[in-house]
This record gives sequence, C-alpha cells and structure tokens, in this order.
Amino acid sequence: ALADDHHRPQYHLSPPANWLNDPNGVIQWNDEYHVFYQYNPGGPYHGTIHWGHAVSDDLVTWEDRPVALTPSPDGPDRDGCWSGCAVDVDGTPLILYTGGRGDLQLPCLGTATDDDLSVWEKSDENPIIDTLPEEPPLRSTEHWRAEFRDHSVWQADDGTWHHLIGSGIEDGGGTALLYTSDGDELTDWEYQGPILVGNPERDGHMWECPELLDFGERQLLHISNYEAVRYYLGGYDADDGAFDVDRTGLLDHGSFYAPQSLRDDDGRWLMWGWVKPERDASAQWDAGWSGTLSLPRLVDLDAGGRLRQRPAPELTALREAHVHEETATLTDEHRSLPVTGRALEMRAEVRIDDADEFGLVVRQSPDEEEETLIRYTRESNVVVDRAASSVDSRVSDEPVSMPVTPVDDSLSLRLFLDGSVLELFANDRHCLTTRIYPTREDSNGVSLYAAGGTVTLEALDIWQLGSAWPNPE
Ligand code: FRU
Repeated sequence: ALADDHHRPQYHLSPPANWLNDPNGVIQWNDEYHVFYQYNPGGPYHGTIHWGHAVSDDLVTWEDRPVALTPSPDGPDRDGCWSGCAVDVDGTPLILYTGGRGDLQLPCLGTATDDDLSVWEKSDENPIIDTLPEEPPLRSTEHWRAEFRDHSVWQADDGTWHHLIGSGIEDGGGTALLYTSDGDELTDWEYQGPILVGNPERDGHMWECPELLDFGERQLLHISNYEAVRYYLGGYDADDGAFDVDRTGLLDHGSFYAPQSLRDDDGRWLMWGWVKPERDASAQWDAGWSGTLSLPRLVDLDAGGRLRQRPAPELTALREAHVHEETATLTDEHRSLPVTGRALEMRAEVRIDDADEFGLVVRQSPDEEEETLIRYTRESNVVVDRAASSVDSRVSDEPVSMPVTPVDDSLSLRLFLDGSVLELFANDRHCLTTRIYPTREDSNGVSLYAAGGTVTLEALDIWQLGSAWPNPE
C-alpha cells in the first residue's frame, strides 16, 4: 500500500498516486498558495496529462484538491493540458497552458470560476495563438510540427503583458520566444521573436519551461533543456525584448527539472521543481506513483549579485526531535549518530583542515550493505555517492556531484531527506536534488566520517521532520 511505501515522501508535495511532472500555475491567491502540476490520473507514467492541484496556507502543510484541468475531447488540448502559468490580471486569475492536439502544441487560456481555483473555464478562442512563427524556423521532431510550448507571463512597467514560450531553432539552439499584448484579456498576442538563443552544444537544442524572474535591477531567466535547468542572470530589456546575459550556471546539479516560481505577497520569489524519478518504469509501475515536487526554494540575489537559493524559512515548522552536536574535530574516524529516520533535516558547518574528505552517511543499514554517502572532498566537490544506496538493480546508482566554494572556507550544508528524495543546499547557493531507493526496513541509520586527516565540525544539527499531510485519508 502507498501508506507503507518508505520511498514515498512525507513532506514533499506529491499527488495521492500516479504520475506527476512539472509544477504549473503556482500562485498565491487569497492568502493561500496554489500549486498545480502535470498529472496523469491513469497511472504512474506520462500519459494524457491533466492538472493536479494542491493548496497550502503555510508552505508546509498541503491539502489535495480534485483535478483542476482536464483535456476536452474535442478541444485543442485534447491530447493533454501541458505546462503553463497562472497570472493575476487585475483580480482575475487566468491560466495559460499548452494544449496538445495531434502534432500541434498551441497556447490555451482559462479563467478561474471560483475562489478556490478549482474550476477553470476554457476560452472560446482557444488556441489563442493558432499560427506558428515563421522566423526563425522552429525545430520540428517526428512528433511535432514545431516544438512550441510552456508559458511564463508577466506585466512590464508600461502595462504591456510579456509572454515567453519555449522552443528551439531548426539547426540552432534552444530559445524563449516573446509575445506581447496590450489587452488584459490575454487573447491577442503579437509575436516579437527570441529574447535569447542558447549555444546548442552547451545549452541544448530545445528549451522547455522558460521563466523570467525579476529582481529589480537584474533578471533571471531559466530554461530546462531536457538534461538540466540552466539559469542566465542579466538584464531583460522590455522595450527591445532582448536578454543580455552576464552570468550563467545550473540551478541544480541533480534531477530537479522544469521549475516554476511565484512572487508572493511579501515580494519573495518561491520556486518548485519536478524531482524526477531515478528508477525504471517497472519499478515505478510497481510503486503506483512517480514524481514529486521539490521543497519550495527562496531564490534571490546576494549583495554581490550572485544567485542564492535557500529552503523556504517556513519549513522549520516541520522540525520535531532534535539532536545537536557540539563543535568537534574528527580525525580519520567514523561516528554513528544517535538518530535514525527517513524524514530528516541535517545542518552541518564543516571545514576540511588537512583531511581529504568529510562524509555524511544516510539511509545506512547496520551492516552497511545499503548506505548513501554525501562526500565533501578536498577538490571542493560535494558528491552523492549512490553506489550502495540500494540493492535493487532497477534504480540508478550513478554518483551525482556539484562544485562548491573553495576548500579553505567552511562549508554550510543543509540536507533534506524524505523517503526517496534527497535535497542538498550548499552555502545557500548550490543545490543538488536526487533520489535514492534503499530496500531494507533497517536502512535508516545516520553517521559521519573524516578520512585522510582532520575535519572540524563547527556545528551539526539533525531534526526529525513531520508530515505535510496532517490529515491523510
Ligand atoms: C517538461 C515538459 C513540458 C511540457 C510538459 C508535458 O517536463 O516536457 O515541456 O509542457 O512537460 O507534460
């Protein structure tokens, strides 16, 4: 049963069963956070996609709501209601999403008919853009006449609505295409062209789910290129419809994909991503569910203009039993910690003095047959070593790594473990989200070690975390 599935997260937003991919239409509305998501009610695979729906008033506990958007058998979204965004147009919540029909992907509009955002009336004018741009020539595939999907909409200072659609240029790179509109109906869009075209070798041939976050002086554009989520920091010129890049990097080094963000009533940018599964289709089928959303992340820029990413501060409300370790030095030793669990938060401040490596070990069985190592090495990498995470051969055992700050600084590591989900935040900046699927009931120990010399542990805190679903059915 799903209830005793110890791979299922207990504080990450997940559908009651079946398939989930991208977060969609995230919006704060009447003091509640609404998160919709790509959902297949038919099973744990990417089939006919609907929009699932969950609501929270604190970003910590969630309530499932009925499916909010269903493909219309005769509509332009007949084959799927794919990714899109929600916008507040002068007090009316609207959604713009991609309707799939045959070999076409075209934008569709919906208007909320109630304050719970549970029923959306589709526009008679759908698809609201019905011809594909001719220039530049868009990439097509064996399935699609053109790849042309996913939506991010916002209002510029002069009142004009700006709308990005993900695409790729034939024989070129991935791109985000700009449309603008002067009307509040969001039905009439004028094509402006690409705001940025990626380098196809580095940035991919197709960009999914482009989104623009405004930080005042500067803007952040992120795109998902099938492999990863790349961000570009720079300046968006609303008059020219062009994005000037001054810095780029990855939002996450693991299996975090197609994120979407909202700016809440306090002006904070909160972001959720799809945490992809990392086991084969038969294992997902056996489990009866697949996919979960990441924790909400607070995304902003630090005083030096660099990107910061932190777990939403509200999440501390999940903390229950606490273990605190005083400052300690560890020299070539392995120490078990007096805590076990599958839903934990750990916070470590650590300096590698003359050691080669510091490690945190989670989901460890007493005989160490199963264990996951989070290794912080002298080369300034954090590696999630999954070689022994699971004895199940249907799950990925590849290491996942991310570069962090130089080794002479101390590293601040925050780790969230939740069933099969592992989310790491390093120095409030670098993120790595991945999956592990230990099989044994007793794979729930925690330990740490120093290898090749001495490590100073400046602080270590571990909390057992509670549930996001206080009243499960
Ligand atoms: C990204 C994506 C989107 C698309 C949706 C379909 O994961 O492929 O481009 O709209 O998922 O479910």
